[in-house]
Amino acid sequence: MSPRPGAPVRGVYLDACATAPPAPEVLEAMAAVQAVAWGNPSSLHGHGLAAAEALERARWRCAALLGCRPEELVFTSGGSESIHLALLGAAENLRPGRLLISSVEHPATAAAAAALERRGWQLQTLPVDREGLLDLEALERWVEPPTRLVSLIWGQSEVGSLQPLDAVGARCRRAGVLLHVDAVQVVGHLPVDFAALPVDLLSLAGHKLQGPRGIGALLVRSGVPLTGQIGGGGQEAGRRSGTEPVALAAGLCRALELADERLRQGAGRDPVAAMRDALLARLLELPGLRLSGPDPRHVPEARLPHHLSLLVSSAAGGPFSGRQLVRRLWQEGYAVSSGSACSSGGSPASPVLRALGYGEQEAASGLRLGFGPWLSPADLEGLPDALERARQQVAVGP
Ligand SMILES: Cc1ncc(COP(=O)(O)O)c(C=O)c1O
Repeated sequence: MSPRPGAPVRGVYLDACATAPPAPEVLEAMAAVQAVAWGNPSSLHGHGLAAAEALERARWRCAALLGCRPEELVFTSGGSESIHLALLGAAENLRPGRLLISSVEHPATAAAAAALERRGWQLQTLPVDREGLLDLEALERWVEPPTRLVSLIWGQSEVGSLQPLDAVGARCRRAGVLLHVDAVQVVGHLPVDFAALPVDLLSLAGHKLQGPRGIGALLVRSGVPLTGQIGGGGQEAGRRSGTEPVALAAGLCRALELADERLRQGAGRDPVAAMRDALLARLLELPGLRLSGPDPRHVPEARLPHHLSLLVSSAAGGPFSGRQLVRRLWQEGYAVSSGSACSSGGSPASPVLRALGYGEQEAASGLRLGFGPWLSPADLEGLPDALERARQQVAVGP
């Protein structure tokens, strides 16, 4: 099913946790802003003023939707940059000490942590349980000095676990330790009210909530010193230089508005959870499929509402290659993922599943489905049969 260049790719898109398709309203908002506010927001003439005004309008609206003050929001290029700015930019204002992260962080956090280690910081990785939830006793043991910074993935991209942020945040506050959360998978799918969260820094990315790619944001609590990591023109109050992508900011703003409407309809939860739960019930009737991460039927509050992850095994019980299954499912017309779209190369075993305690082979048998409002229950009707066919084909081999 390789498309001709330029031809639209068809199929049922179930890879929202990698990137969600931009909403038509987002594309419209971006085109409208780009047409009139294409100038450089730093220019002093009318074109610059129009761009600066559009940028600030987007900042104020995004801030209102995220519960932060406009000056607490720094536009970035996406999740990875926000995470680097948070950790490196905060650490520059602290004496080198200990940084705590979990064993299921996105590689961007691991990379920023490694950069801090090269600058004299100690890194301590805290374990998670079989469902991917942080070991709070380990946090208790390690949070005291010289720990000065904690970074935690709020919603885990591969197994869907939602960390107990209130407990973690309260503990970090008592210890006087800064807390950064990677909310890249959370924003747009659960309400985020920065003013009420016990966190100091929060990262998000537009493309995970049907916004544009190439824009994200870092929320920085007022009073938390942060040093920009990209120098130059001093944009974003000196915290991120570079001519601002005004149309992308407008697109992110529109995506947040649409998400806000959906969350209201779902009484505070992404309404796609109902579709996910119905599919999960059908999938678990199939032989060889197991859930990984928290079970949304028992602990809905512990799992991202748009996320489903499975481990696949043969009739004989042996683990399968998740990647092969992904390719077969695409031939059946379903776009899914074998885990994190961002991991690359090396062993097919997922470090996240390994951290949850799964063996090498099981950790290569993951399948991830991500849901969004572009899907209807009818789109998912044929998926269990397609999955079973794909599973049998992989068992037989190419
Ligand atoms: C939890 C999480 N953090 C960070 C990132 C990185 O975001 P970006 O790809 O926008 O740099 C991702 C992307 O998959 C993610 O899922």
